Amino acid sequence: MTVHRVGAEARLDSARWMGRDVVVKRRVVKGYRHPSLDRSLQTSRIRNEVRLMLEARRAGIPVPILYSVDLENNRIVMAEVCGMRVKDALQGGAADSEAVCERIGEVAGRLHANDIVHGDLTTSNMLLEGDSVVLIDFSLGQKTSEMEDKGVDMHLLEEAFLSAHHDRSELYSIVKDSYVRTYAGGAEVLKKVKEIEKRGRYTRKE
Ligand SMILES: Nc1ncnc2c1ncn2[C@@H]1O[C@H](COP(=O)(O)OP(=O)(O)OP(=O)(O)O)[C@@H](O)[C@H]1O
Ligand SMILES: [Mg+2]
Repeated sequence: MTVHRVGAEARLDSARWMGRDVVVKRRVVKGYRHPSLDRSLQTSRIRNEVRLMLEARRAGIPVPILYSVDLENNRIVMAEVCGMRVKDALQGGAADSEAVCERIGEVAGRLHANDIVHGDLTTSNMLLEGDSVVLIDFSLGQKTSEMEDKGVDMHLLEEAFLSAHHDRSELYSIVKDSYVRTYAGGAEVLKKVKEIEKRGRYTRKE
């Protein structure tokens, strides 16, 4: 069993399950909150993640196949995506970066066209499987048509992209072009991103 990651909130392990290669994602119960509140928070996070993964799949966005949802034990079992994180692929220069950035913009555009806001849209939460960018980690996501929320998603993507790939910042324009081509409301969202950036600069000065 390979441990992918033991984060503050979730633990991910590779395993075999009913003859398949899977990843088991368990939510770790934190000790410092009230135990029953803690449980219900974890349960609603998992429900949320599962619901959004299914919505995304319905919208034609590549996401891992879900095999099992176990609310008793705070865990989901999903297909293991064989491929590296988009973050590592772009940093390592292994993949065709332009093509990967086109895919990133498409995935983001399709999400928002379907009123799904991811909540943690970064290249760490995208896996490269062949030519596809597979989106994971929907636990902070929500269904909303609010342009502001979509703007926050794209703002985070830009910040994360530019900090992880500062030497390839020109690539982000490919992401934006592809986003706007995919989603009719895309240009309006990118205007919001500019507003959010301005607000950020203003509050930092205070
Ligand atoms: N289906 C999968 N196939 C292959 N690797 C995966 C899969 N799901 C997750 N991983 C690996 O595990 C890492 C962490 O997963 P994920 O982003 O879902 O967890 P997290 O960031 O710890 O969670 P959360 O933000 O919900 O607390 C990913 O970056 C990826 O490397
Ligand atoms: Mg993550």
